Amino acid sequence: MHLSATALLGLVASANAHGIVTKPATRTPGDATAAVCGQTMVNFYKQDNTSYPEALMRAHGLDKDYNAAKCNLYLCRGYQFADNTANVQSYKPGDVVEMDVYIRIPHKGYANVSVVDTTTNTVIGTPLIDWPNNYAATLTPPANQTKFSVTIPALGDRCTTAGTCVLQWYWLGQGQTYESCVDFTTPKTASAKMFKA
Ligand SMILES: *[C@@H]1O[C@H](CO)[C@@H](O)[C@H](O)[C@H]1NC(C)=O
Ligand SMILES: *[C@@H]1O[C@H](CO)[C@@H](O)[C@H](O)[C@H]1NC(C)=O
Ligand SMILES: *[C@@H]1O[C@H](CO)[C@@H](O)[C@H](O)[C@H]1NC(C)=O
Repeated sequence: MHLSATALLGLVASANAHGIVTKPATRTPGDATAAVCGQTMVNFYKQDNTSYPEALMRAHGLDKDYNAAKCNLYLCRGYQFADNTANVQSYKPGDVVEMDVYIRIPHKGYANVSVVDTTTNTVIGTPLIDWPNNYAATLTPPANQTKFSVTIPALGDRCTTAGTCVLQWYWLGQGQTYESCVDFTTPKTASAKMFKA
């Protein structure tokens, strides 16, 4: 292990909270992320994939390749779709998606899961599930905070192209933000098919 990685781990260990979605498969940082966020950032999250951007910045985890326009640290942690093309889920409106979350260190806060249009970083509709003020307050949070399901809403044709839409889990615990993103598509609606034909 490199010295710098050890130093990063030390900083990470002093932080207050940590978490990640473990199911379905989420974006992970790879070469495409390194190209716009920097290899230092990718290495940071490879050391601890439950960490968060505020800790990254405290650890000076942004190098010369960090491009703020292309790497939004608060959208999917900055992880890029091109690193996750093998894990695009196919959902239909009404599908029930089981999600598992791993909370490594708790911190009481606010969490939700929403469909986010990553091209504009906007939530489509309203959160599919949310915990207004009591999320992950204890080391073993209530089971329904770490194992729950969401139902895919009607999305029209907004999510038919892979890479556009994610199910984003978002947790804000005392100034620390966590995001995990599941890439997915929904089929083109009948009217769009007819229009194209
Ligand atoms: C996070 O990192 C742990 C430890 O390296 C690994 O076992 C796990 O598969 C990773 N999870 C995700 C969702 O990347
Ligand atoms: C989650 O479980 C707790 C008990 O541990 C219960 O009080 C609460 O109503 C449940 N919430 C949901 C959304 O099911
Ligand atoms: C989801 O939670 C985050 C963290 O608190 C918050 O910033 C965001 O506004 C919430 N999203 C919605 C759509 O309520």
